[in-house]
Amino acid sequence: MNDLAPSPREAARTDYPRPGARVHLNVFQPFGPIYEWSKTPRSRDYYEPAKYLELVQDAERGLFSAIFLGESLRLREHLGRLNDIAVTGRPDALALFANLAAHTRHIGLVATLNTTYTDPVDLARRIATVDVLSGGRAGWNVVTTDNGWTGENFRRGGFLDRENRYRYAEEHVAAVQALWDGFAADAVAHDRGAAHWAEGVAEVERRGAHISLRATPTVPPSPQGQPVYFQAGDSDEGRDFAARRAEGIFTHHVEFDEAVAFTADIRRRARSYGRPGDDILVIPGASIVVAPTRAEAVEKHHYYRDLFLNDRRIRQVIEEVWQTDLSHVDLDGPLPDVPPAVDRQSRTHGIVHTGHEPEVKIRQWRAIADEHGFTIRQLVRHLVDSRVFLGTPDEVADELAHHVRSDAFDGLNVSPNAFPDGVRDIVDLLVPALQERGVYPDAYAGTTLRANLGLPETVAHRVPELALLSASASA
Ligand SMILES: Cc1cc2nc3c(=O)[nH]c(=O)nc-3n(C[C@H](O)[C@H](O)[C@H](O)COP(=O)(O)O)c2cc1C
Repeated sequence: MNDLAPSPREAARTDYPRPGARVHLNVFQPFGPIYEWSKTPRSRDYYEPAKYLELVQDAERGLFSAIFLGESLRLREHLGRLNDIAVTGRPDALALFANLAAHTRHIGLVATLNTTYTDPVDLARRIATVDVLSGGRAGWNVVTTDNGWTGENFRRGGFLDRENRYRYAEEHVAAVQALWDGFAADAVAHDRGAAHWAEGVAEVERRGAHISLRATPTVPPSPQGQPVYFQAGDSDEGRDFAARRAEGIFTHHVEFDEAVAFTADIRRRARSYGRPGDDILVIPGASIVVAPTRAEAVEKHHYYRDLFLNDRRIRQVIEEVWQTDLSHVDLDGPLPDVPPAVDRQSRTHGIVHTGHEPEVKIRQWRAIADEHGFTIRQLVRHLVDSRVFLGTPDEVADELAHHVRSDAFDGLNVSPNAFPDGVRDIVDLLVPALQERGVYPDAYAGTTLRANLGLPETVAHRVPELALLSASASA
């Protein structure tokens, strides 16, 4: 990875902390696309179920664990206006999944759905419906979402500060989980002659600092018992939340040293809550470009990268950090020598902020640009390149094997570089190379997402949520 130069091969190393680790691949789509429509001939393709099916059936042929969709409740904005190079719509993932479930058999269906603006009873019901219709392949990526701006859509702008957003999320997730627990697998008799037709549907009552409810679950469990919990959020609160509850975590930390440090931090936090620590799958987002020769892979990557990284987008990338119009700045010159217009990223919405103040990011970017003598264009390309695993199938397979065996991560949420055929080369070229190295399965382990991710049949950990603990302690 990084600068598209071949990375050092460490395949011969024998002292890995996790020699038996394997790679999980998911296909990640923001649904709809962010800048990807420039890579597909027609933006309407994103609304054709058949096109999605093509992508997902390729991924299923390649034994991918899941298709993983992001969520956005507003169209992106840039400097106070609708971001017109990012607009194709942001529909609802669960509706698409209901359709995909009917045409696939193994691949998992993971939807990003926020806790801040959803109701736990309604959300539990909708996710459980996809879970039962897909025979146990649903997952929920829990986010608390970009708050004030999203909240305006719901007449609740700036609803909760970060700390309370996570306390709220904790109660929300626990309520959803209790509702899923409340419908026993054998609650509904299959035989009409049985003495009791329905027994074992429990009313759920919860009284928390934020969420109080009394409800009965409405959907029976699927063969995997409960949908799989993922979490995405990078702050201290977000990491702790994941460490207490999540079965998987979606992150940006993919560069080797950063990834090792992030994963160690998550496992340490999980152990402090009494969990084994290695029971959380850490899945960063990245791209993979493979071709029979390295030169072809570089050429292919440049082609797709430069389709979306046009001059307008490169300028946006720096404007998102400086938070001001930089239309006068030469992209083939150095970074602007002025401070950012505001100290928070407040005029760009819909991208994931990682909590860094603009000054911090600018300092990091200047250091990289100074070290390599980069212009703006070269820097932005470098930032994109550093999230790409690129090379021949053998090179990329060695690199991924090295990462999982070193406990840098457990797999990747792969953003395809084209739609709908963006994972075909990965399936045809990379998957066999991974299989040869013993880091990828030869067949799906089962028919549920839980089975295919190697997770226990039931959610083993039940860490009590902090907000309820503190509420009951003060009662
Ligand atoms: C890798 C990653 C992916 C995310 N994807 C989404 C998403 O699709 N939709 C969303 O509303 N928020 C998403 N988030 C944002 C989080 O919900 C959260 O709002 C943001 O990271 C700020 O929370 P934090 O302070 O815990 O990082 C994502 C965060 C990360 C780190």
